[in-house]
Amino acid sequence: MITYSEKERVFKLDTANTSYIIGIVDDENFIGHVYYGKKLKDIDVTYLLKTWEYPFVPSKNNRERCSFYDLFPFEYPTGGMGDYRESCFEVKTASGHFGSMLSYVSHEIINGKPKLEGLPATFGNEDECTTLKIVCEDKYIGMQVELLYTAFNDTDVITRSVKVINTGKEHFYLTKVFSACLDMDRKDFDMVSLNGSWARERHIQRKALGYGIQKVSSFRGESSHQNHPFIALVDRNTTQENGEIYAMNFVYSGNFCAQAEVSQFDYVRMSMGINTQNFCWKLESGESFQAPEVVMVYTDKGFDSMTQNFHRLYKKHLIRGQYKNKKRPVLINNWEATYFDFNTKKLLSIAQEASKLGIEMLVMDDGWFGKRSFDNCALGDWKVNEEKIEGGLKNLVDEVNKLGMKFGIWFEPEMISPDSDLYRAHPDWALAIPGRPGTESRQQFVLDLTRKEVVDCVYEQVASILRSANIEYVKWDMNRQLSNIGSYGLEADRQGEIYHRYVLAVYEMQDRLTKEFPYLLLENCSGGGARFDPGMLYFSPQIWCSDDTDAIERLEIQEGTALIYPLSTMGAHVSDCPNHAVGRVTPFETRGIVALAGTFGYELDVTRIPKEDKDMIPSQIEMYHKYNDLVREGDYYRIASYSQNHQYDCWQIVSEDKTESLVTFVQVMNRANYKSRRIILKGLDEDKKYKVVFTNVKDVEDCVYSGDTLTKAGIFIPNPWGDFKSVLIHITEV
Ligand code: GLA
Repeated sequence: MITYSEKERVFKLDTANTSYIIGIVDDENFIGHVYYGKKLKDIDVTYLLKTWEYPFVPSKNNRERCSFYDLFPFEYPTGGMGDYRESCFEVKTASGHFGSMLSYVSHEIINGKPKLEGLPATFGNEDECTTLKIVCEDKYIGMQVELLYTAFNDTDVITRSVKVINTGKEHFYLTKVFSACLDMDRKDFDMVSLNGSWARERHIQRKALGYGIQKVSSFRGESSHQNHPFIALVDRNTTQENGEIYAMNFVYSGNFCAQAEVSQFDYVRMSMGINTQNFCWKLESGESFQAPEVVMVYTDKGFDSMTQNFHRLYKKHLIRGQYKNKKRPVLINNWEATYFDFNTKKLLSIAQEASKLGIEMLVMDDGWFGKRSFDNCALGDWKVNEEKIEGGLKNLVDEVNKLGMKFGIWFEPEMISPDSDLYRAHPDWALAIPGRPGTESRQQFVLDLTRKEVVDCVYEQVASILRSANIEYVKWDMNRQLSNIGSYGLEADRQGEIYHRYVLAVYEMQDRLTKEFPYLLLENCSGGGARFDPGMLYFSPQIWCSDDTDAIERLEIQEGTALIYPLSTMGAHVSDCPNHAVGRVTPFETRGIVALAGTFGYELDVTRIPKEDKDMIPSQIEMYHKYNDLVREGDYYRIASYSQNHQYDCWQIVSEDKTESLVTFVQVMNRANYKSRRIILKGLDEDKKYKVVFTNVKDVEDCVYSGDTLTKAGIFIPNPWGDFKSVLIHITEV
């Protein structure tokens, strides 16, 4: 899977269908990016580096060393020496100088994949992947840089990360440490990214790449609603089924930058890493810095293939814990049902009704602690409010358990309200620039998690609640983005480390939590889906996708999310109408069918919704139990996109063995005098025969067709009468 040719000085990393090739060049051991694309048989392709062409290499033409730097496809470009494209790395020495250049020193090929210290990352054993470690150095600074590459066997993925070691005598400052770079000698790409806002997360954007730098980034302290740590450069002709894609996704939950720069020679440099804004990390002699991991996918088979590579990797090599390949309990969350206005009696009345309908878990959301009856206080005071939770938490949990239901709870551990006992006792525990008033958001501040005593105090509060009763689920929320970056616990020249230290502390807390309570189902959340990223997925198998629970708005949000993340990770609930985010009224049935593409649950007051809606819940839950194994584990295909055609949405899931499939069709807007619509299915075995059952449409008879017919000629969806109607089609091998 990873080979090294001593003669050619070339590394070749192979996955099933792709090759990635790195070459070492010239007497000065420059590390060049030779090739990434369709699998190659030969290793001897260093002609691609074009060192046979003017300005050649410095040993042949030192007069144009600068031109060489500015043209050569570097594996890991540094700045300040003459490469004027945007670098991936910048260091400021103790004497205040910038500028560095890396050269190859040695390498190691490792079976399996080493862990990244303190960071979430994909994993795989010796049979599943191989890792290449290239050690390079800048001897003038006294610094080693390790470039780590892992090639996976069962998915066309190569992961990359970078570690910097101070091997000199003096400290230096890292002001930029990106994790991956791809220098390519073409520019005719479109750039695809995921952008949005609160309640409008991860909408797909595609635009032509032009000269200069095009980037998406976050400086919000989290991966964010607004931009997503993902970019793909795709051929102008790439479709769902065909065409080349180079994609990068960052296994990180904080500030990031993902960009593509088209240079003067029509070359593209694509890169990804921690955002440099406010980033300055001091590295003492002997210390090291580990940058997070980038996941790279190359395919020439369009978006379906890219998506499936990401899904496969995340399902097998990122998500952990007992729920990894398991059905999750159908939950009911009281947020949209009650907001802050609840007590034991109200929660139990919801639970009683819910248990009769087949719902399996009650989740108590925000408002159960301190004196919190609105969002203006008590974050940090994780003590049960017994005026609301009369009889205490254990009593409530026991009563819920007696109904045969599990119990889950909401926390927002990273935050502190100015009106809280915690803040009154420790005003210096909030992130703040000394002497400057803090900027409130949702009337709260962010805890300074760079301080161990803060992390320990909050963790202990959360853990003691979890120890006090039979709590089997936690929703870990984070409802504001970071600002006023300052810590009373760090020296002046370490204030630039806060953003990253914050993320590391969140990871450490979740690591502790999942180790102490391994049976917990953890669901991450951040004002909806602002921290839906692979970093958080390493700790929680599911993440709340968006506060927008409207079934139609969800089509675009879930399409964008599912572009990279498996359906098993997408928190999706059926809620009441008019929808709390958009005021839209949609059929209860469609709300259920759309939520079925995620974790599935309810977010409504089951004691108050219309009877005809309530009557539908048992059959929706039955449907969840029937299809969830397929939805969770199957391959996902996009058939049609409402965000593109503005009329209907359609996706399909096919089991790995191709014996079963589920097709979801949502007609958003009906049209007058319109006939049935033909859709072409995907992923089925051409040689198998399948029974096609329209599960919720009357007057359509079951039929049997070959996979060949279904994937070429397709099937007709009868025109559903009305807007927002949905059709669910179950396909099984006969
Ligand atoms: C965030 C979450 C919601 C809910 C509220 C509670 O907005 O996304 O689901 O938990 O916080 O304050």
